[in-house]
Amino acid sequence: MIKNIFSMISVVTPFLLVAPLFAEESNPSIIHRQGIYGAVGGHMKAIKSILLLEFDAAKDVTFHAQGIVDAFTHMGNSFPPGSDKGETKAKPEIWTDKDKFAQLGKNAFGAANELLKTAQGGDKQITLAAFKKLGETCKSCHDDFKSK
Ligand code: HEC
Repeated sequence: MIKNIFSMISVVTPFLLVAPLFAEESNPSIIHRQGIYGAVGGHMKAIKSILLLEFDAAKDVTFHAQGIVDAFTHMGNSFPPGSDKGETKAKPEIWTDKDKFAQLGKNAFGAANELLKTAQGGDKQITLAAFKKLGETCKSCHDDFKSK
């Protein structure tokens, strides 16, 4: 009996450890867009550490800016109808105010390309201004279309 309980535990434990990676949400569109935005957020953090907190990797801003541009390019159809239900912070307005949502997406993409150009130019202050502008485009979409 005791032996059985132990063998059960050893079978169950690996699943418990892995479970958080596979949380309840299974809608591929939700998981995909959160993954893409998460990648974008990671690059933004790294750029912040370099431009605002003196992390010594000035040459890497170009890489991170390119990463943001590339991630946005690979959003795909991440907001199909019906994907407002689930473990998501996407507000229903995304599907009722599509044009505005698309426009804010374009604004962010344009600002990301602008950041890439300024990073390639190599002037820190100009790059910092472009970084802040990009941050504002993230915020303006989150304010209207992402719940807290
Ligand atoms: C056009 C609208 C829009 C733009 C632009 C936008 N976001 Fe978001 N973002 C969203 C929405 C909607 C969600 C919620 C997605 C979900 O939970 O399904 C989100 C979620 C996120 C998340 C959380 C991801 C997760 O793991 O749940 C991060 C981080 C993020 N965005 C960062 C950014 C950054 C940084 C930028 C700008 C460089 C940006 N976003 C631009 C709409 C936008």
